Order: sequence, then C-alpha cells, then structure tokens
Amino acid sequence: MKYFLDSAKLDEIDYAYHAFGIDGVTTNPRHIMLSGKPFLTAIHLIADWVEKEGLTGWEKFPVSVEIDPHIEQADPMVEAARKIAAISPNFAIKIPATEQGVIAARRLEAEGIRTNLTLVFSPAQAIWAGKTGSLFVSPFIGWKEANGEDCRQYIKDIVDIYKNYGFYGKTQIICAAIRTPKQIVDCAVAGADIVTTGLAVYQDSFKHAYTDQGIKTFCDAWDHTALE
Ligand code: E4P
Repeated sequence: MKYFLDSAKLDEIDYAYHAFGIDGVTTNPRHIMLSGKPFLTAIHLIADWVEKEGLTGWEKFPVSVEIDPHIEQADPMVEAARKIAAISPNFAIKIPATEQGVIAARRLEAEGIRTNLTLVFSPAQAIWAGKTGSLFVSPFIGWKEANGEDCRQYIKDIVDIYKNYGFYGKTQIICAAIRTPKQIVDCAVAGADIVTTGLAVYQDSFKHAYTDQGIKTFCDAWDHTALE
C-alpha cells in the first residue's frame, strides 16, 4: 500500500519523503491555508521541490491539488484545472465528486490531465470515478467515522466494486482524511491502494506501549551485563 502525505507544508513533505519514502502528496484548500502561503506560492514551491528531487511526473510522485471549491459548473472547473495542471506534470487535479465535477473530470482525463475525484462519501460516487477514468478516487474516512460510522465495509465495498468492473488499479483508491493508525490498517485490510494522512498519524503508527516496555526491559538487562 502506498503512503501519501496530506500536507502543503514543504518542511513536512521533505521530511516524510527522505525519512519514510512517502509515495506522493495530497493537498486541499485547508492544507494550503495551514501552510501560511498564498495558494499559487504554495503549489509552485511543491512543484519546484518535486523537480529538485528528480521526481518529475505524476507517475513518479503524484501531487493532488484542488481547484477553487467555489466553482460549481463543469466548464469553469475544466478551465481552473487546466491552469493548475500547466504548473507541474506531477499535479493530479482534485475535483469534487458532484455531477458537474464528474463531467469536468471526464473531459480533463480525455485531454490527458489527471484527476482525483475528491469528497467521496459513498460507493455510488466512487463508481463515477472509475467510469471517468480518474487517476484517483478519494473516499474520506475520518469525517464519516468522526460522526459515528464504521467505514470498514464502506472501503471494502469500493474495493470489491472496483475489482468487479476492472477499475481496480486503474483508478487508484486513496483513503483520505485518515486520523488514526487503526484506520490505516482498516484500509490496508480492505485492499485500498493508498492512504493519505498527516505526519503525526504516520508517527503515531510507530508507537506501541509494548515496544517501549520491551526497550526498557532490554535496557535493564543491558545495564546488568558486562560488555566484555
Ligand atoms: C485528501 O486528499 C484530503 O486532503 C484530506 O484527507 C481531507 O481531510 P482533512 O483536510 O480533513 O485532513
């Protein structure tokens, strides 16, 4: 399973790539805001970083960038996506999974601009991403589970549907808004292609109380043993 970093902060992206070998980046308007930079500055910085690292091209290191979420109609969505896509060959353009968004994504994919159908909350929406040939589909997990839903069956349903109809692997399933290591595992068990989350959640996934306890036990033993 691939791990993407959900962030527009360059220091986090650089760290997660060099320390953990993350496979791509996802951003959204909220992450851009949190970077503290103007939208165009933030995405240009990421585009420059990708080039500097020798990762040019979405096949090597995809970076999802969302269009202005105020845009509701397919024509202006396509226009906005074209402008963002022209900045970097790594950019996959995030389009909301509305009727107009699906129309826009279908057109963009036809002209070779890769898309990520985002804000997906049902398998019915996810099917549209497969049918449009979008590079990515982003079912949001954390937002649903924060409201009491258990998403394990939801993820499995999307994976099964994609396998049933040949979408699996072509439109890659990015489980998004992952908030806990447990949710990473749920996505892996279900067969999702990718998870995307923040640095803190990946760092949490290293932690286990027994690991800490074991290190302490072995430290005690080490301290009571002669070296030679
Ligand atoms: C995914 O691509 C989204 O950027 C992200 O996971 C949305 O969640 P968040 O902004 O609530 O973390």
